[in-house]
Amino acid sequence: MNIILLGPPGAGKGTQARMLTDDFGLVQLSTGDLLRAAVAAGSEVGKKAKAVMAAGELVSDEIVIGVVADRLDEPDTKAGVIFDGFPRTAAQARALDRLLAEKGLTLDAVVAMDVDDDLLVDRVAGRFTCAACGEGYHDTHKRPVREGICDNCGATEFKRRADDNAETVRSRLTAYHADTAPLIGYYTGTGKLKTVDGMADIDEVAGAIRDVLA
Ligand code: AP5
Repeated sequence: MNIILLGPPGAGKGTQARMLTDDFGLVQLSTGDLLRAAVAAGSEVGKKAKAVMAAGELVSDEIVIGVVADRLDEPDTKAGVIFDGFPRTAAQARALDRLLAEKGLTLDAVVAMDVDDDLLVDRVAGRFTCAACGEGYHDTHKRPVREGICDNCGATEFKRRADDNAETVRSRLTAYHADTAPLIGYYTGTGKLKTVDGMADIDEVAGAIRDVLA
C-alpha cells in the first residue's frame, strides 16, 4: 500500500505516519526529515536547502523530486510507503505519478488532514522530539508519560526544530495555501482523496485514518 498524508504544517502528518508504520509495516518517507538530514550532513542538497527551509519556503521541485527518487530506489520501500510532506506542488504530484508508474506501483489513497490555521501555530510552536529516536511530543497535547524520558526509547535528550517559530510557521502556511492545498482538487479528480478531521485528538485521528483506509 502506498499512501500520501496531505496537510498543512502541524496537521499531524508525522505523528500519524509514525503510528501507521507500526500498524501497517509501511515505510515513512518524510521529505522534511530527508532534507534536515541533508542539511545536518552538509551535503550539496543540504547546502541548497538550508536557507530556504529556515525561511519556511519550499525547496525546489528538482531537489525534492531527486531526494524522493533516490529514497524510492532503496529496497525497503517495496513494503509500501507513507509519503509525509510530499508532494507539495503540482510538479511534485506529477513526478510521483511517474516514479510510481516506472516501478509498476500504484497510489492507493491520499489522506487529507483538515485543521484550522489558528490551531497550527500552537501545535508547531509546542512541538519537541526525542533526540535519539525522533518520537514526537507537544508541550501540552502529548507530553512523555514520565517527565523528561522518551516513552518510545527511554532517552532523556529532546530537541526543537529551528523552523518551529511563529514567523516561519506563517511563511510555511502561506506556501501551503498557495502551492499544496490545490493538490486536494488534483487528487479529488483521481477518486483517491479521503478527508479526516485533523482537529480531533491524536488517537481519534488515527482511528479515522484507519477507517478511511479499510
Ligand atoms: P516538513 O518537515 O514536512 O514540515 P511541515 O509540512 O511544515 O510539517 P510539520 O512537520 O511541521 O508538521 P506535521 O504535519 O508533521 O505535524 P506533527 O505530526 O509534527 O517540512 C519542513 C520544511 O522542509 C518545509 O518548510 C520546506 O522548506 C521543506 N520541505 C519539506 N518537504 C518539501 C517538499 N515536498 N517540497 C518542498 N519543500 C519541502 O505535529 C505537530 C505537533 O502537534 C506535534 O507536537 C504533535 O505532538 C502535535 N499533534 C499532532 N497531532 C495532534 C492532534 N491531533 N492533536 C493535538 N496535537 C497534535
